Amino acid sequence: MTAPASYSRLQIALHWLIALLIVAAWFTDDGMGRALHNRLESGATGFSGNTLHVWLGSAVFVLVLIRVLVRFGQGAPVPVDGPRLAQRLALWGHRLLYLLMIAVPALGASAWYLGIEAAGEPHELTANLLMIVALGHALVAIWHQLVRRDGTLTRMIRPGA
Ligand code: HEM
Ligand code: HEM
Repeated sequence: MTAPASYSRLQIALHWLIALLIVAAWFTDDGMGRALHNRLESGATGFSGNTLHVWLGSAVFVLVLIRVLVRFGQGAPVPVDGPRLAQRLALWGHRLLYLLMIAVPALGASAWYLGIEAAGEPHELTANLLMIVALGHALVAIWHQLVRRDGTLTRMIRPGA
């Protein structure tokens, strides 16, 4: 598939909406251990008793699955100029982010909706890893924009940039 000239409007919207929801899920995790415990005790199922954290995380899950389909369908623009090693690191960094964006909500959902208590701990661990990798990713993007001035951030803001 030939690479598109830029990220599409839809890809850009999904990138920022999902990033926002992930951060919101992160800040609403308080008391989730207890909430899960109570849910398993009471035998509640489905969406009943969903906390804000669960709703936000579930929205991430659905949107990420859509995003992956869109990514396969539309591809991504060629990497900005730079050393080959940096381009490979960016590629694998992005793949890792996609993997974590799927694994984190999938593990959370396994604990919450399927009652698999053992998924809770790996959910927390991968969520921490996701936040660390995403923070590094954001810092690199800002560095590109402000220090290298190569328009990396602009192309995730303006379609066609
Ligand atoms: C990307 C989205 C998500 C992020 C960043 C995230 C983050 C976190 C974090 C940091 C914790 C640890 C809380 C603590 O120690 O008090 C946690 C716990 C939990 N989350 Fe999420 N979460 C996400 C999505 C979800 C989803 C989709 C669900 C369920 C449908 C979910 C269900 C839970 C549950 C049940 C716990 C408690 C686990 C336990 O204590 O064993 N999360 N989450
Ligand atoms: C939880 C937060 C975030 C996640 C999970 C995330 C994830 C991703 C992923 C997976 C890509 C690759 C897109 C693709 O090739 O399909 C990407 C691209 C990008 N992200 Fe993020 N991102 C987050 C936050 C941010 C923030 C805060 C910034 C800016 C400060 C940012 C700037 C960018 C830029 C500029 C690109 C395009 C890079 C390029 O064209 O090579 N991201 N992001």
